[in-house]
Amino acid sequence: MKTTPATPEAITHAAAIIRSGGLVAFPTETVYGLGANALDPIAVARIFEAKNRPFFDPLIVHVANVGALDELVMGVDARAVALAAAFWPGPLTIVFPKQAVVPDIVTAGLSTVAIRLPAHPVARALIDEAHVPIAAPSANPFNYISPTRAAHVAAQLGGRVDMILDGGDCMVGVESTIVECAGPGTRILRHGGLPLEEIERVIGPLRDATVHRDAPIAPGQLPAHYSPRTRLAIVRDAHHPPAVSDAALLAFRTPPRSLRYAAVEVLSPSGDLREAAANLFSALHRLDEAGVAIIYAEAVPEEGLGRAIMDRLRRAAAK
Ligand code: TXA
Ligand code: MG
Repeated sequence: MKTTPATPEAITHAAAIIRSGGLVAFPTETVYGLGANALDPIAVARIFEAKNRPFFDPLIVHVANVGALDELVMGVDARAVALAAAFWPGPLTIVFPKQAVVPDIVTAGLSTVAIRLPAHPVARALIDEAHVPIAAPSANPFNYISPTRAAHVAAQLGGRVDMILDGGDCMVGVESTIVECAGPGTRILRHGGLPLEEIERVIGPLRDATVHRDAPIAPGQLPAHYSPRTRLAIVRDAHHPPAVSDAALLAFRTPPRSLRYAAVEVLSPSGDLREAAANLFSALHRLDEAGVAIIYAEAVPEEGLGRAIMDRLRRAAAK
């Protein structure tokens, strides 16, 4: 796929793609990001599909100005205010307690959301013109090196994205530093483009939580972070075991006939894995609140986003 020089016209076009649920690869000062409308769960599901991630990993939400925080996060405390004032725009991501408007697929079911205000003029213009926050991981396939020029993205993900904006080489070239300001202590979760020393000069010593950061804070790494409280079992056929009154069904597609479960959630009426992935965490939340003894989850095909769905279901079932 061809890359497009990031002219003002191209950025306007890219913003329209984002607004209509598409994927745009764009430059930031750290690495190229693979962006989608952060408030549109199906658009975000396309990111996971394009990257071939084997499990859901929470994404960073990119904003164009500090005012955008008002609708996304709560509990912005003094530490976060100081960090934002000192380092935004720039290669720093801050993790905050999230508001309900942020879809579960963005945060992998966590109660926090990672926010970044990038310094790159193309990134800022894109977010500004899209009028929505943009969820974006690095624009590489899972397990590959992050892209720092548009051609990397074209080689690795070309064909899976709707547009690749070329803004030249990334200035920082490593991903943003991630600091969590969501609990009583401030923790550094990932070393990155903003040195620890600079951060500590502003807010004092940080707890180092980077040791296990090869493994991101995602449901796969911390099962306790996201498993339904309710017991869950995977079934190949929603008719077996037969429906009982204190069981719920998490169906992949619309069941062929009405089944006598206490509650039923359909992930995708037409059996579309992208739509199913976008709905998975929210559906599990609802069934967990249905007061049943067990959730039977119908197996989905293990291809595309189906692998991620089955990975999550197996972890939930293993609890
Ligand atoms: O520089 C960057 O940060 C680039 C550019 C595109 O902004 N993005 C990036 O995204 O590196 P990604 O998806 O490759 O890495 C995001 C990291 C992951 O390790 C993820 O686990 C962590 O951020 N993360 C996201 N949300 C989180 C949360 N709520 N709590 C803790 N960690 C979170
Ligand atoms: Mg990455």
